[in-house]
Amino acid sequence: MQAYRSSIFHCVEKNGAIKGEYFVDGLLIIDEGRVVEVGAYQVLSSNFSKENIAQITVLNNCLIIPGLIDTHLHYPQYKIIASFGKTLLDWLNDYTFIEEQKFNQQEYANNIAELFYSELLRNGTTTAMSFCTSHPHSVNAFFSVAHKYNMRMLGGKVMMNRNAPDGLCDTVESSYQDSKELIEKWHNKGRLLYSVSPRFAPTCCTEQLTMAAKLMQEYEGNNSQAVRMQTHLNENIDEIEWVKSLYPEHKSYFDVYEQHQLAGEFSVFGHCIYGTDEEFKRLGETGSKVALCPSSNLFLGSGLFDLQKLEHYGVDCAIASDIGGGDSFSLFKTINEAYKICALQGYRLDSIKGLYLCTLGAAKVLNLEHCLGNFEAGKEADFVVLNLQATQLISERIATTKNIEELLFSLITLGDDRLVDEVYIYGKKVI
Ligand code: GUN
Ligand code: ZN
Repeated sequence: MQAYRSSIFHCVEKNGAIKGEYFVDGLLIIDEGRVVEVGAYQVLSSNFSKENIAQITVLNNCLIIPGLIDTHLHYPQYKIIASFGKTLLDWLNDYTFIEEQKFNQQEYANNIAELFYSELLRNGTTTAMSFCTSHPHSVNAFFSVAHKYNMRMLGGKVMMNRNAPDGLCDTVESSYQDSKELIEKWHNKGRLLYSVSPRFAPTCCTEQLTMAAKLMQEYEGNNSQAVRMQTHLNENIDEIEWVKSLYPEHKSYFDVYEQHQLAGEFSVFGHCIYGTDEEFKRLGETGSKVALCPSSNLFLGSGLFDLQKLEHYGVDCAIASDIGGGDSFSLFKTINEAYKICALQGYRLDSIKGLYLCTLGAAKVLNLEHCLGNFEAGKEADFVVLNLQATQLISERIATTKNIEELLFSLITLGDDRLVDEVYIYGKKVI
């Protein structure tokens, strides 16, 4: 067993109530990649005899938190982050689709996958669900690197057969066959999970959406073993109008997915800024999940999501970077943007809830709360050590905070990759 003595924070949820648990002088005990126990050092150190613990690592001026979880991003967009001045549909055509075509080269995909993971880990993100491109080997590159780090990662081949350059378009049949082969190759290999990934309704014809649903049915597994589904929904006004013209027989954008059997508890819909009350209601009733992408929504000028409304309809939500629409890999910066979007609508996102949306809440959105998201005994030991003296400003600011809520709030607001000192994957230090 290994143990880490430090300040420790994580979120717990009991009967639907979210609570922060904070140990000023805490101990996190790990064995064979899993959490044995977390608690106050004084209490745990007397329970565990020193002989059982190989080593106690003492971390001063640090805070240990669970590994951060990013529920929606695009690893192939690593190099187009921070591209100037376009709204969603122009941005897709002028930057995204051009960059994604380069992934027809295996070597290019391998290179970007390596860069992507190093940036992800530097920011303390230990699990993410990512789109790849429509090229199957983009998925091989993505999962190969994840497997090397032994990370719990989710992703899949983008399915898209229209309204995009030929170099990116697949066909109904090839998207099904390629995805199936990739599922067979990667799904449940080590800690990896496959996500069926129809890009969004405008680039998928009705037959392709039907095939995506067929894949999900074929690989239902039992709960946590099931393949996931990821797509986009109600991100931008022009996109919504386009969907109306492409699918005129459907009541709404969400109805397109629902009628194609793509709604449900293993489905994660990115954005969900707009939508009718009926769409929000059906999201909740079908148990579908939502990945909110605040930095991307501000960067592309897409709009302001309404977290309170989604929660009113019982929709489980998490926060996501949406790289490369989003302008930062840091989930601290992303929570900060979510805070501001909520504040503009008269709602204050408190720091514990903010962190929850990138840890335990995000694990729930990915149906991984049984193994990730906090330090409950038996969970996989992915965690991050934050340096509370990362910058002069952070160090001075947190010295004035009166409780853990204030401390976390100042870290979220001022923090970025500089906060992240060490990263552990399945109990092993990788940074
Ligand atoms: N909708 C369809 N594809 C994309 C994408 O790559 N990024 C964003 N932000 N929205 C999308
Ligand atoms: Zn996206």
